[in-house]
Amino acid sequence: MDSDAKKAVLRMIPYGIYVLTADDSQGNVAAATVNWVTQSAFAPPLVVLGVKADSGAYAVIKSTKTFALNMLGKDAKGLAFTFFKPAQVADGKLSGQSFRPGATGAPLLDAAIGAVECKVKTIIEEGDHHIVVGEVIAAHLPKPIEGRPDNAILEMKDLGDTVYYGG
Ligand SMILES: Cc1cc2nc3c(=O)[nH]c(=O)nc-3n(C[C@H](O)[C@H](O)[C@H](O)COP(=O)(O)O)c2cc1C
Repeated sequence: MDSDAKKAVLRMIPYGIYVLTADDSQGNVAAATVNWVTQSAFAPPLVVLGVKADSGAYAVIKSTKTFALNMLGKDAKGLAFTFFKPAQVADGKLSGQSFRPGATGAPLLDAAIGAVECKVKTIIEEGDHHIVVGEVIAAHLPKPIEGRPDNAILEMKDLGDTVYYGG
């Protein structure tokens, strides 16, 4: 395979930017900025995501079987970079960000423009990122969105000319 072509072609896939969160109620709270996310069914509403198999977030999700996907708005570029690093809870904040627990216990970021909470249906253990299939069991929209919801979300291409995850 031509590795340059593989990289360029796979980087044609457009992505939104999300903060994946989970809390196992044993003191392990995870938060990671992710982009490998899509909806995969209407009924039940399913989402699939690729989660780094050796990450803290993966370990928490695998044990607690629930997670939240926090949608980042166009102006939340700084937040995306905050959660590229391992998350810490201090003074009731998650890496400095205020949050509230969702129905699953997963942190919902106050700065997110929306969030879904999911129950893990299955995990497909293939590759360096495992595929987590989640059923959406709660949705949070703090403020109505004007215009197309997919215009409101921060996208990979908004993070700068050199930022990619894929290829
Ligand atoms: C641009 C970008 C996109 C990322 N997308 C994903 C992703 O889709 N899935 C994932 O598991 N990690 C992704 N990561 C890595 C996580 O953000 C990172 O491993 C995580 O925040 C580290 O925390 P943890 O290991 O403590 O969970 C991405 C990183 C960058 C820089």
